[in-house]
Amino acid sequence: MIKIINNYFILSGEDFSYVISVDKFNHLATSYIGHRLLDGEEVTALSYRESFPPGSSVVYDESVDPDYSYDQRPLEVATLGKGDYREPSIILRKNNEELFDFKYVDYQLKEKLSMEVKLPTPHDVNDVLILRLRDERNKVSLYLQYGVTETAIVRNVKLVNESEDDLTVIKLLSLNLDIPNQNYTLYAPYGSWASEFNIAAKPLTPGIYVHEAKTGSSSAKHNPFTLLLKNGLSSTSGPSFGFNFIYSGSHYTAYELSTFDNIRIQIGLNPSDFHPVIKPNEQIETPFAVLTYSNNGQNGVSQNLHQFTTDHILRHEHAKAMRPIVVNNWEATYFKFNEKKLHQIIDNASDLGIELFVLDDGWFGRRNDDTGGLGDWTLNPKKLPKGLGALSDYAGKKGLKFGLWFEPEMISYDSKLYENHPEWMLHVEGVKPSSGRHQYILDLSLTEVQDYLIKSLSDVLASAPINYVKWDFNRVFSDVGSIKTPTNRLLYDYYLGLYRVLDEITKAFPAILYENCASGGGRFDLGMLSYFDQTWTSDNSDAGARLIIQSGAALAYPLVTISNHVSAVPSHQMLRSTPLHTRFNVAAFGVLGYELDLDDFNPLEKKWSKAHIEYYKKHRELLQFGKFYQLANPSTADHYLWCVVSENQDEALVGYYQVINSLIKGQDRIKTVGLIDDALYEVEVLRQDHEIKMFGGLVKMVLPPGIEADGKIVTALNKRQSVESLMKIGSNEKYLVSGKALNDGALLLNPQWRGTGINQTTRILGDFGSTLIYIRRHDA
Ligand code: GLA
Repeated sequence: MIKIINNYFILSGEDFSYVISVDKFNHLATSYIGHRLLDGEEVTALSYRESFPPGSSVVYDESVDPDYSYDQRPLEVATLGKGDYREPSIILRKNNEELFDFKYVDYQLKEKLSMEVKLPTPHDVNDVLILRLRDERNKVSLYLQYGVTETAIVRNVKLVNESEDDLTVIKLLSLNLDIPNQNYTLYAPYGSWASEFNIAAKPLTPGIYVHEAKTGSSSAKHNPFTLLLKNGLSSTSGPSFGFNFIYSGSHYTAYELSTFDNIRIQIGLNPSDFHPVIKPNEQIETPFAVLTYSNNGQNGVSQNLHQFTTDHILRHEHAKAMRPIVVNNWEATYFKFNEKKLHQIIDNASDLGIELFVLDDGWFGRRNDDTGGLGDWTLNPKKLPKGLGALSDYAGKKGLKFGLWFEPEMISYDSKLYENHPEWMLHVEGVKPSSGRHQYILDLSLTEVQDYLIKSLSDVLASAPINYVKWDFNRVFSDVGSIKTPTNRLLYDYYLGLYRVLDEITKAFPAILYENCASGGGRFDLGMLSYFDQTWTSDNSDAGARLIIQSGAALAYPLVTISNHVSAVPSHQMLRSTPLHTRFNVAAFGVLGYELDLDDFNPLEKKWSKAHIEYYKKHRELLQFGKFYQLANPSTADHYLWCVVSENQDEALVGYYQVINSLIKGQDRIKTVGLIDDALYEVEVLRQDHEIKMFGGLVKMVLPPGIEADGKIVTALNKRQSVESLMKIGSNEKYLVSGKALNDGALLLNPQWRGTGINQTTRILGDFGSTLIYIRRHDA
């Protein structure tokens, strides 16, 4: 909702308001951001008020107002040269001068966001405000566009050069926001390949903190979102801000705590690879930044970001459609597969109830390992003599849909594409390009390259029944040079090219489910999510590592976009063995899949996995679309606690994940948020039995003398029988308690194994043990 009262623009979501005002010099001030203003509430009482500027401050125009200084003013646009000494959000150069002073001219209200270039634009945003500013002397106009949704605000800028001279952009950020500090801590993701979404906590201190990616991609190093929280991770109360950027290339976010205890937050294109020259009568637009506010702590702000993504970023038709359970052959076979092996994976998957088979890397061109083939999107008939159609039909007969892997933006030296078009590779004339995973990047700023990709991918997609596409991107940028496009805007134009390709392919094949991947979460961002329904979160499929990775990703992205697979043990990435139940319990929060040779499952593992898949199908809606809460802070607790609650509060599912076992901890309590306090709920702890081999030599205590713990008999038993059935123990935990008890964390689970006795109610967890708890309203 947008209200305009005098010179105040009041932008309100369900729970927050954001107020911009025009001051006496026609500068735009951020007057307020916080709880939603009540009708009649005086915004002037809540916003920055002018006082005498400190002794050494520069006064903007003494003859008009001796008290008006830029030094502390909260500004919507920050430029150089008139007394604001914090970070500028815009730096421009014309005729060797850098002094720009943008003044408000007029506004426009619209019912749709506008973007003239192919940058991803949130859909269904019906409240749009455009503020026009102009620097008269330089003849440059600036349009600030704000889109208001229920849970977030987006903003971008458009710069128009109306002069007769070239205008050089040095920095052109999409958002500048100045807010008063309240002892906030900044939470910012960091990581690398297979270790994405670690969260750094930084209490703000005077100075600047930059959170950015210069890789040419949104990156696994620093995903573009950040949170600013009063009460820390896993909080459910306290003022909190969330920020993100709808773009897939290099990004830049700066937090500056000024000496006057104000925080400046800026988000935009990274100036390191974006500094274009704008010719007379030309313009440039920037991607949208996203901001949200909640008084419900980290969980409130994360849920706002989730809702925004589901309602305004994800493709309409797929946003709320349940995602299938996939089996992917990558970790099962890598490049070593033939039709027979793939059929075997499909047969096993079909027995378990899996719904879609994904053929990963290696099916095309000269692709027998990762040194060749990229760019040639035609089937390798030696590997699949009967063709893709026959494989898809085979899967179809077994009740599975069919998906295929591509890495379209890349080129290998050993490819027909390189033989025909060496000039299509990003390179700087006279310099040998550097490789990443033995491969190079195509110059997607060139229309002919975009057209080639649209055509060659469309041909494959039309050649067989294909229901799912995995789009990979396995290296970051170097040697950013083109035969046509200037380097100062090459990556910007690359992404415009990529978004055009994605737009055309998703429009031509709208029913396909698209999964984004960049060696896992290397480009997990709102730009890609505008075309891709879900993301392969990390190449690390170890359940222990995934607790960190998925917790981090879910701070900003909804569960339905977070794709997770149960994989083999020891994990190929961590060489760690986690229980099968935990591998499922972790992967189930979001989009579930399998990625291992299912033929290696023993009968017990098959039985358990079948039950897991059934359980997932039963609760899929909750696990993909429920309101997600993180209720234990892993930096201070010894466990993770995830909880999803249905919209009508009738159902919830809780995951309790122990990391390292300890004998001095208290009893496990379950906590929820968002259940109805005075309603009764049935609580059912999922019974998950354990492998005999987990008990090592201890099993000898219950076996006849002479049977070795690692001998043939126990090894054979371990494949068919659980320790609970061997010892005739184990219980089905069920409780009837109030929503209040659950919300207060008063429900205690059966005590864990403590290294001594064992009885009917002992809960066995061990390192990386976990428990799932389903909660349903008693009378519903
Ligand atoms: C990347 C992906 C993997 C797999 C391989 C194939 O690493 O993240 O899931 O598709 O490429 O080469």
